[in-house]
Amino acid sequence: MAAFVSECPDEQEMRRNLLEEFRSVTLSQAYHKIWFTLCKGLNEGSRRFPDQYIDTCSKLWDLLTQSEIPSPVRIMDFGGGTGETTEPIFRKMEALNKQMFISVEEPHEDYLRKYKEIINNISKASIDITYSGPFQDYYGHSVEDLRAKKAYPQHLQDTVLALHVLYHLTSIFDDPFDPYENMKQAIFAMYAILKPGGQMVIVLANHAVNIIGSASLKCFEVLFPHTLGNQKLLFEVWQNLLFDGGIADVLDASFPKFRAIVQQENVVDHVVLPTLAEVGIAASICCLLGLCADKSPFDQRVVQFCMDYVKTDGYKHGLYLDSEGMWVFPMKTYYITIQKVAIE
Ligand SMILES: C[S@@+](CC[C@H](N)C(=O)[O-])C[C@H]1O[C@@H](n2cnc3c(N)ncnc32)[C@H](O)[C@@H]1O
Repeated sequence: MAAFVSECPDEQEMRRNLLEEFRSVTLSQAYHKIWFTLCKGLNEGSRRFPDQYIDTCSKLWDLLTQSEIPSPVRIMDFGGGTGETTEPIFRKMEALNKQMFISVEEPHEDYLRKYKEIINNISKASIDITYSGPFQDYYGHSVEDLRAKKAYPQHLQDTVLALHVLYHLTSIFDDPFDPYENMKQAIFAMYAILKPGGQMVIVLANHAVNIIGSASLKCFEVLFPHTLGNQKLLFEVWQNLLFDGGIADVLDASFPKFRAIVQQENVVDHVVLPTLAEVGIAASICCLLGLCADKSPFDQRVVQFCMDYVKTDGYKHGLYLDSEGMWVFPMKTYYITIQKVAIE
């Protein structure tokens, strides 16, 4: 199949407008705009592929109800965002008459405020603790220290969640660069507050096999060649520890009184957007991992590069134009569960 070479006038106008939008923004502002475009594409994908689409809430509910949900149930949500993803889960628990104590870690203050509002409107749910610092604040601290600074609740948790958040532990520009240590420390922080018999659920897109990862690898190779090895190493760490389950041995070595039982499933979502320019924007998200709180100026060449990349190489990663004139690409996402089992 040939690369996509022709461009309609709408396409050119959208490209100009988007490039203008990304001209003088911070890394943080750019990240949130890109995330918004990707979400828009995922929502459209869920409408167009209802048979194939498995929304995070349904999948999460399947995983959480594999065993009886206790009441009260204690849940800690790391990088909880606005709470919109977990709200349907809490509503289902409310319908089952379960009492819920919810703790949330989320560095974005506005998101955290919205999360609290959601919980306040659910009759059977109440907030236990909220913490507005990043994951990095947990690294290397004891449970007691973290409880003292209200980064952890006082009780161990039945369920710990990290939904589409572990991307943010490492930036490609970090020096020193240690994605293995960052991932290990973040998962230790979640495992330490999980009660014996409890379950952790991690959701993470496998960008290394998605157009998003290929666009970022190529972009770094051309614009920031010194970081290319870092990006490859980051994807290797995700693969070894999470997608291949290597985290089980790492946890067992550090928490010898417990056995970690790790399981993974993956689903392929579809991202559907009206223009190649927007596909390029969505595909650039991997270039901003670990930078979503950074107020430094964004380099507009990143989105420009990704727009060009999807146009010439997108088809190699499953991008196609459907019969209704919309651009569609697949995105493989993993659901990883880690159960913490006490050794007798
Ligand atoms: C893609 S959103 C996912 C939000 C939510 N879990 C959901 O699934 O809807 C990623 C979230 O991670 C948060 N985040 C960013 N950097 C973080 C860090 N270093 N530690 C913890 N959370 C972080 C962001 O503020 C954002 O709310």
